[in-house]
Amino acid sequence: MKGGNQDRWEVDFSIELGDLTLKNPMLAASGTYGYGRELNNIIKTDEFGGICTKSITPLARDGNEPPRIAEVKMGMLNSIGLANVGVHAFIQDKIPFLQSLDTNIIVNVAGFTIGDYVEVIQLLEEIDGIDGYEINISCPNVKGGLEFGSSAKSAAKLTKTLRSETDRFLMIKLSPNVTDISEIALAVEGEGANAVSLINTLIGMGIDINSEKPILKNVYGGYSGPAIKPIALAMVQKVYHSVNIPLIGIGGIMNAEDVIQFMLAGATAVQLGTVNFLNPTALTEILDDLVAIAESKGIRKISDFKGRLKEWE
Ligand SMILES: Cc1cc2nc3c(=O)[nH]c(=O)nc-3n(C[C@H](O)[C@H](O)[C@H](O)COP(=O)(O)O)c2cc1C
Repeated sequence: MKGGNQDRWEVDFSIELGDLTLKNPMLAASGTYGYGRELNNIIKTDEFGGICTKSITPLARDGNEPPRIAEVKMGMLNSIGLANVGVHAFIQDKIPFLQSLDTNIIVNVAGFTIGDYVEVIQLLEEIDGIDGYEINISCPNVKGGLEFGSSAKSAAKLTKTLRSETDRFLMIKLSPNVTDISEIALAVEGEGANAVSLINTLIGMGIDINSEKPILKNVYGGYSGPAIKPIALAMVQKVYHSVNIPLIGIGGIMNAEDVIQFMLAGATAVQLGTVNFLNPTALTEILDDLVAIAESKGIRKISDFKGRLKEWE
């Protein structure tokens, strides 16, 4: 286990994620924590149980034109467009710092063809200190038109191909912009995914009545933050009843109560996203508050919250 026991707390925070043991169930969500270094002078990055990096593609990408981020009621809209340094610069410039961290490093991988994902993973397989991959399937498939994550068939095909490329922990990040998310989760479990993380952002849009233009140049963006939590919770609870692999809950988590709600619904771990922009020290506060809640409920091991959701009589 990376980072050792966080035994300043009375509660055992460690959790099992496939073959990985995390010192606590909070991971940094992709795209909201850069490459680990950006917020490191504000918060000790390795207090996270794991870090999911910004999505990495084969080539560097500038992403979409600004404005590409906007604050809206109960959350934010972003149309960053997978801006990233590309896998080669990631390996050369970003990996050394990530390797120095005492936490689990999950590299988030994106692409527009299956070949893109394979190319990134093949290069990363040569590098030590990577604990696993999170596959962003909310990317338009240039061959198929629709996103990889929008059909069970394309999500399964991608997972099958990537499973044959790596023995590392392989987690598929599910899109909420689908009719039946459980069907996609089942399909990727069937092709050897070790876990699923859910949810990515919902498609959203804002309009400025003065300019009478969309607030994002790209028109549509991904909606994240507190408003999406009820949607994410429902999806986690639904998928929990459909698959046997661990779930990592994401969506609008702001505090310790939110973390526990996701665990009760069936999540083994969670990711903190938009909250990192609003309150960069949220993780430390959440860890402290989790201790208080766990102790008040007589819980000594955080993983005991998982799936404890009770039914109405
Ligand atoms: C500015 C921004 C950039 C993001 N970039 C990525 C990304 O590169 N890859 C990815 O898989 N998810 C990305 N996400 C989605 C988040 O990881 C997360 O799934 C989503 O924001 C929901 O969680 P939240 O409500 O806690 O933010 C991004 C989110 C935001 C707000």
